[in-house]
Amino acid sequence: MQTQHTTPAPETPETFTKSLLSFVSRWGLELSVVIPVGGAYLLLARKVGYWPAAWLVIGVVVLLLLIPQVREVLRIVLRLSHWMRRFDTALSMQSGILEQRRPKVVGAKKVPSGTRLTLSLRSGTAISDVASIAPYIAVHFKVRNVRVKPDPQDASLVDLTLCTKDPFGSGPVALPEHEAGTRLAWGTIRAGIDEDGSEVRLSLLERSSLSGGEPGSGKSGYLHVNIAELGLDPTVTFYLFDPKGVELAPWRRCASKFVTSDMKAANKQLAEIEDEMHLRYETLQSLGLRKLQEGGPFGLMAVVIDELPYYVANSDKEASKEFATRLRDIIARGRASGIIVITAAQKPSVDTIPSAIRDLISLRLAFRCSTREASDTILGSGWATKGFSASEIAIGDRGVGLLLGKDDIPILLRAYLMNDEAIEKRVSEMCRRRTADTREGLPNLNGTWEDA
Ligand SMILES: Nc1ncnc2c1ncn2[C@@H]1O[C@H](COP(=O)(O)OP(=O)(O)O)[C@@H](O)[C@H]1O
Ligand SMILES: [Mg+2]
Repeated sequence: MQTQHTTPAPETPETFTKSLLSFVSRWGLELSVVIPVGGAYLLLARKVGYWPAAWLVIGVVVLLLLIPQVREVLRIVLRLSHWMRRFDTALSMQSGILEQRRPKVVGAKKVPSGTRLTLSLRSGTAISDVASIAPYIAVHFKVRNVRVKPDPQDASLVDLTLCTKDPFGSGPVALPEHEAGTRLAWGTIRAGIDEDGSEVRLSLLERSSLSGGEPGSGKSGYLHVNIAELGLDPTVTFYLFDPKGVELAPWRRCASKFVTSDMKAANKQLAEIEDEMHLRYETLQSLGLRKLQEGGPFGLMAVVIDELPYYVANSDKEASKEFATRLRDIIARGRASGIIVITAAQKPSVDTIPSAIRDLISLRLAFRCSTREASDTILGSGWATKGFSASEIAIGDRGVGLLLGKDDIPILLRAYLMNDEAIEKRVSEMCRRRTADTREGLPNLNGTWEDA
């Protein structure tokens, strides 16, 4: 039997040019460092001789490498170049549009779940093309999976995460200890980690938040984290509503008011908050301010309500109507006066939470739900059909939810968890800061807060 041998195509000027261009495009970043250094060496060598020039160039390179910023830039460039080549090889295995119109890797960085590449798509291609080859890319790089996320600002940019680890797989993630002097309320507070394992921070300023999900999904746990984070600022005052009376009870010591299941007391409390809101606006008016700012005459007020339907859909219809009207007013008008409303509800459907309240809440967190419809009642209708449904969160994944309000699309979040000991520790810290604050007689809105 005759064996057939394929003879390699003869090297023509065209194939040579093509190979050269491909070499330059694969090693362009390295060449942009090597060519200037080589050029400088040759110029120097003409003037001072080969060996002295070599020592001079080596000396300058070593000196440059001693500068941390230079090393960092070099590391970024080399990593990017390395991934550009690897990704190019991965795409050359494909036969679709992306093989001809290859996206360019414009960023590569390590994230806790693996490596995140930022791709710049070429005209004629779309994110759906990248999503369709994600499973093949995962096989090529031998990783767990590949996640594709669009850039909310620029449709031509896509983040492609090659996940080698599941950051959610290792169970609960404790809220890290606060750094000395941190007062987060006016900046961003820590909420949890995202799918890449990176910390998710949120601003609650001038916003209200609603978390929902089935019983035991992590709603109250998330309220604890919110209180703990805002509470680091001693000027934040807390008004806690907890129909069970046990869930938020640990924070009672440092809260201004704590309301349980008494509807009359709950309405009285909301009326007081409304009065305070009016007073605040009068003060702001007299100071010629349009809204409360850091360093202003008063601190933020956090109104935290667990099991919201208990108050707004109570069997005492009159009382719950009053509660809903007052709460709507506080959410709608209170923002500029520094009032933040943080709520949790099992199933915030229209029959339990009036849409007049729900629609005003911009931060939504959907923990595990049993149906796509239930997930949509938290995030807003239509998200489940776009592929974001909290019903797809596994039953055992407590504290994992879809967060809407940080980016344009929901992101998967594992909320931080605080155990009883961590809560107790934070309560003591909050009380200490609040006592010190009063003792020094300062609103203490400027400067850093000194830890003991
Ligand atoms: N972020 C979290 N990470 C891991 N486990 C959590 C988290 N939040 C809550 N859990 C677990 O789930 C249990 C129920 O949480 P909880 O917040 O009380 O649920 P819900 O208020 O939704 O009924 C908690 O006792 C805790 O063990
Ligand atoms: Mg609860």
